[in-house]
Amino acid sequence: MSKAKRENWSGALGFILAAAGSAIGLGNIWKFPYITGLNGGGAFVLIYLLCILLVGLPVMLCELTIGRNTRKDPYGAFRELQTQHSRLARFFGWLLVLGAVGLVLGGRWGFAVVALIFAVLLLTKGFATLGLLGVFGGLAILSYYAVVGGWAVAYMLKAFRRQLDYHDLGAAQAAFSQFVENPGLMVGFQLVFMVLCALVIWSGVRKGIERWSKILMPLLFLLLLAVILRSLTLPGARAGVAFFLYPDFSKLSTAGVLEALGHSFYTLSLGMGITVTYGSYLKREQNMISASLWVIVLDTLAATMAGLAIFPAVFAMGFDPASGPSLLFEVLPATFNSFPGGFGWFWCGLFFLMLSIAALTSGVALLQIGTAYFMDQFKIRRHWAILISFAGVAALGVLSSVSIGNWENLEALKRAIGMTFGAGTLAGSFFDTLDYLASNWMLPLSGMFIAIFVAWEWGMRPADAELRQGAERWTDRWLPWGRRRIESSPDAAPGAEAGAEHGIELPAVSGIGFLTIWNFLVRFVSPVIILLVFLYSIGVIKPH
Ligand code: PFF
Repeated sequence: MSKAKRENWSGALGFILAAAGSAIGLGNIWKFPYITGLNGGGAFVLIYLLCILLVGLPVMLCELTIGRNTRKDPYGAFRELQTQHSRLARFFGWLLVLGAVGLVLGGRWGFAVVALIFAVLLLTKGFATLGLLGVFGGLAILSYYAVVGGWAVAYMLKAFRRQLDYHDLGAAQAAFSQFVENPGLMVGFQLVFMVLCALVIWSGVRKGIERWSKILMPLLFLLLLAVILRSLTLPGARAGVAFFLYPDFSKLSTAGVLEALGHSFYTLSLGMGITVTYGSYLKREQNMISASLWVIVLDTLAATMAGLAIFPAVFAMGFDPASGPSLLFEVLPATFNSFPGGFGWFWCGLFFLMLSIAALTSGVALLQIGTAYFMDQFKIRRHWAILISFAGVAALGVLSSVSIGNWENLEALKRAIGMTFGAGTLAGSFFDTLDYLASNWMLPLSGMFIAIFVAWEWGMRPADAELRQGAERWTDRWLPWGRRRIESSPDAAPGAEAGAEHGIELPAVSGIGFLTIWNFLVRFVSPVIILLVFLYSIGVIKPH
């Protein structure tokens, strides 16, 4: 697609709402509370917030600059910005070959094959591998995301038909397991959810995503507020607030830290190129820094509100905070049933309607990655691109659906994964395994490489120049420590040449400002944090 013809967001607000629509979803309302519950509460929340600030925000800005600068899908974007036969990519490629040899010697041949595949990709395609990883990772995530999206739709219908009229843990658990143990129902609702996603994209980026997000996101916040008020006024609610907000580090494990890091990527839709794609629709005069901050604030607000809605109710009504993926679906109906006035079922239905819509705006974003890739790379029409992505995702998603009720439904697959990757990877079900690998491993790794790519391959200078466009108010005037000098003539500026090849000039700015901090985070802090967390979690560095 030619640069001039690419669609644009209608304005800053359109972009922020659409990006917030992609970020705010099941990750905030379903996943965040249940993983917080599994990881002991407040300390996990604190680490998660730190990850958002120190890793999430810088990487988000990297993705947006890459996207807006190239105006391409992620695969094309990385290809355009890397040097030919990138030495850095070859370095990582050979490092992975070494790693693969080590893995074979250690008997982990399944992981060795994965490492080898990435090594070959890095050696042949360079950093464009990141684009591919994003496309296929995104589609893999959508495959199980759609399963939970389907639960939300199903629970909405159940609520409106007054089938969720329980108040206690036992009945809630029974209702949930009865539902997930019915593969036909699960697959059916998952497909309904996916068809809805496809329909939204079918009508085009702006009309589709933007219009939906603008109307529906504010409603979700209002309903969450109502649940919080109810939850907080239940007798015994305080223990839940304490659990959620008081950081007790003795309850946090290394695996919990990895999960917090992974979730900061998952919740902000980072590491899989979706934000590169969204950036590619941004206009040059838009301020990417303030837009990112808005998205992050809204996303974190949604997650915090979900936590405040759920945990007080969990403790007040004697539910188990560590009950896993079913947490929201068990606790909320019971909370709504204790609403005064007898219309609990109605509010509950409305809530699951909003949740389905929040999930939909994220599912749409996930499907968009594959669609943009197939359209731009193979020059096919949007509708064909949607159909191809849909078919792949639905096929994989059915496996997730069927495995949730019982892994043994897919005995051959279970045995194959166990034999290839080791029994340790067989968390819960195929659904859990996919989520574990995609969220905790793939997203942070790809985030680390995106930061390394911007810092050491593309270069901070052109990235700075791109980020500065439209954000001059922030980059040139904010935090004016030290001597600040801005050359008015870009030709004379030393930084000008680097940006110039991409059509932007970077005037010489001295003194510490936003760009200085961003550069430091991207170059050192984010990659190092991610690397350390990984080394801890695979046991190379031992916590004591
Ligand atoms: N951020 C979404 C959520 O928290 O629900 C999930 C997601 C959507 C991840 C879109 C990635 C993505 F591209």
